[in-house]
Amino acid sequence: MRVLVTGSEGYIGAVLREHLRLNGHDVVGLDTGFFNECNFGAPPRPIPLIQKDIRLVEREDLQGFDAVLHLAALSNDPLGNLAPGITEEINTKGSIRLAELAKEAGVPRFLFASSCSLYGQGASKGLTEEAPANPQTPYARSKIDFENALKAMADDRFSPTSLRNATAFGVSPRLRFDIVVNNLCGWAWTTGKIQLSSDGTPWRPLVHVKDISKAFVCALEAPREAVHNQAFNVGSTENNVQIREIAYKVQAQMPHCEVTFGNSDSDNRTYNVDFTKIETKLPGFHHADYTVDQAITEFLEAFKQLSLQEEDFQGRLYTRLRQIRHLQETGKIDDALFWRQN
Ligand SMILES: NC(=O)c1ccc[n+]([C@@H]2O[C@H](COP(=O)([O-])OP(=O)(O)OC[C@H]3O[C@@H](n4cnc5c(N)ncnc54)[C@H](O)[C@@H]3O)[C@@H](O)[C@H]2O)c1
Repeated sequence: MRVLVTGSEGYIGAVLREHLRLNGHDVVGLDTGFFNECNFGAPPRPIPLIQKDIRLVEREDLQGFDAVLHLAALSNDPLGNLAPGITEEINTKGSIRLAELAKEAGVPRFLFASSCSLYGQGASKGLTEEAPANPQTPYARSKIDFENALKAMADDRFSPTSLRNATAFGVSPRLRFDIVVNNLCGWAWTTGKIQLSSDGTPWRPLVHVKDISKAFVCALEAPREAVHNQAFNVGSTENNVQIREIAYKVQAQMPHCEVTFGNSDSDNRTYNVDFTKIETKLPGFHHADYTVDQAITEFLEAFKQLSLQEEDFQGRLYTRLRQIRHLQETGKIDDALFWRQN
């Protein structure tokens, strides 16, 4: 199929596009390019790219595609908090406009990279897709708001699907250290310390970036009736862990490291999610293939190969908020996060 991947130059996009290619799909990317210089090792294999902000997309950009896979966003809570108004402009309004134009252009499938963070502080364990949303942040709010808008657009010629990803982990050519597994691995490798800002009790559902890619490909290739206007939690029960467990898993592979904890109230986001639907109802997915332990091993190999130093780990290239601030402070992008003309 011929597919447009928005956010193709980001952490997940850089892995997903390769997975799509290996599965025989013809991929075009669309991305504004905030992280174009942020390579971890070799850059991702080039693909045809529309370098554009989703707020400026036009119908012509979307013509001729069998599906849009929509990942472009201010993609985590710290970025969402940087400018909540801009998060709404991009993640909610920009996404609605993109989906409307895709529908007008006759694109039949629209897959959205949503997030389990929309469940917020889940009162109970095992949150299914039917659990009420309880977003705690502008980022999480933007995800449920756009999902709701998408649902209202579904009809015979437009099939949206929301993939509610757990927190991602794993190596990517556009690596991030601002997500928990990657972050703890980076701390351990570069400082010998695993520092938790919380007391380690909050629950996080986790998923390898390759399993997110698998979920997108399965949803893309699924018969329409299996995915039409559906939401799927993307992850696995095995990777639903408390943060202190991640720290101990990292320590198990780097035994010289010391684990330290923060305050119990420093992180009020906790959610434990049920993945039965994706395992039983999304054709071809079956189960997530990668565990946290495997990813830690992968990281150790990559860090060794690239001789990762603390200044790289702490630097801007792999932390979204720092890179966006850098682009603002050097005058490259304006307050609304549009590129300035030279
Ligand atoms: N990484 C995770 O743990 C995780 C978990 C759940 C959901 N998600 C969602 O998956 C998607 C991809 O996440 P990621 O981790 O790859 O994020 P990322 O920040 O690494 O990549 C996002 C990409 O979108 C681009 N982008 C941002 N604003 C844009 C705009 N206005 N116009 C065009 N492009 C724009 C950026 O340049 C970047 O390349 C996001 O929607 C995110 O919310 C991520």
